[in-house]
Amino acid sequence: MNTPTASTSNNCKPLKTSKIRVNLLKWFATNARDLPWRRTDDPYAIWVSEIMLQQTQVATVIDYYNRFLKKFPTVEKLARARQDTVLKLWEGLGYYSRGRNLHKAAKVIVDDYNGQLPDTIDELQKIPGIGRYTAGAIASIAFGKPAPILDGNVIRILCRIFRITGNPKETETQKILWQLAETLVSPKHPGDFNEAMMELGATVCVPTNPACFDCPLQKICQAYKRDEQEKLPYRQKAKPVPHYTIVVGIVYKNDKILIDKRKQNALLGGLWEFPGGKKQKGESFKEAVAREVKEETAVDINVGKRLCIVKHVYSHFKITLHAYLCEYTSGAAKALACDAVKWVKPEDLEKYAFPAANVKIIKALNAATK
Ligand code: ADE
Repeated sequence: MNTPTASTSNNCKPLKTSKIRVNLLKWFATNARDLPWRRTDDPYAIWVSEIMLQQTQVATVIDYYNRFLKKFPTVEKLARARQDTVLKLWEGLGYYSRGRNLHKAAKVIVDDYNGQLPDTIDELQKIPGIGRYTAGAIASIAFGKPAPILDGNVIRILCRIFRITGNPKETETQKILWQLAETLVSPKHPGDFNEAMMELGATVCVPTNPACFDCPLQKICQAYKRDEQEKLPYRQKAKPVPHYTIVVGIVYKNDKILIDKRKQNALLGGLWEFPGGKKQKGESFKEAVAREVKEETAVDINVGKRLCIVKHVYSHFKITLHAYLCEYTSGAAKALACDAVKWVKPEDLEKYAFPAANVKIIKALNAATK
C-alpha cells in the first residue's frame, strides 16, 4: 500500500450510501447484542449509558449501568442525590468527571429543562458532559433524529471503508469524517444505524485482526480490497507515559484513620483518599509521607512500617504508590490541600468512594488486620 501519511487522502467516492445503510441495518438486526440500554426508550437511561460508555467497554459498563439505574431511576432522583453517593456508584469505572458532570447535568435538566432531556444536538451540547458525539448518540437513539456520531469505533470503520489515510486527530481529517458520518446516517433508522456502527467497530472491525469475513461491508471496503485493514486508521506513535512515585499515610488516631476528599477540579476530584502525594527528589519515603500528610491535613505523625506497594496505570501516566502505617502525634486535622478531612473507623472505609489505587490499599489493610 501507499504508507498512510499524515496528509489526508479522501477516497470516498462513490459513497454507496444506500448499500452501506441496508447491509449494516440488516446485519445489526441479527447481530445486535442484548444490552440493558437497548431495552429502554427512556432518554434519561440512554443518556446515562452513553456517558458510562465514553472510553469504557460495554462489558465493564453493564453492572455499573444496572446499579446506577436501580439507585437513580429518574433524573429527579439523581438531581437530589449527594455527590458522594453518585461517586460511590461510579467507583472503579474511572474518568470520574463523567460522574460529577452527570450529577451536575441532572440538576440543570430538572431546573432549566423541566426534567426533560432536550432532543436536539445543539441543545444537548449545552448540558455538562455532553459533547458532539454523545449529543449525536442521544439525539439519534433516544429521539430518532438523523444525527451523526464519530468515536474511535466509527473512525476506524470509515477510515477502512473509504481508505482515509490522514491522521484522524487532525482537524482536516476530522471534518471529512464527520461529513461522512452525517451523509451516511440513515434518516429512517438513525439510532439503529449509529448503534450498528458502534457494534461493528466493537465486535468485527476491531483494531487488530478484524473479522473481515463476518463483515457486512466487506465487499465495499477499500482497505479490505488492498489488504490494508490493519494499517488503518493512521496512528501516531504513542508517547512515553510518565511515571510518578507517590507516598501515602494510613494515619491512625486511636481506632480511626484519617482520609481526605480530593479537590473538585483535580484529577479524581470529589473522591476520598489517604493523604499523600509525590515523593520529591532527595527525600526519603518516610520524610515524604510526613511532609505530604502535614501539607494536606495539618497533622503531625510518626511514620511506621510500609503496608504495601501498589502499581496503577491511568490514561496518561503510571504511578507506584507506597503506603505507610502512621501514628497521629499532634495538630487538629484541617482541609489544607483538599476539600475535607475526616477520621473514620476502618470498617466504614467502604462507605466512601476511593480511587482504584486506594481501594487496593484498603484491601491490603484489611488483609493485614484480619
Ligand atoms: N458505545 C457507545 N454507545 C454505545 C451503545 N449505545 N451500545 C454499545 N456500545 C456503545
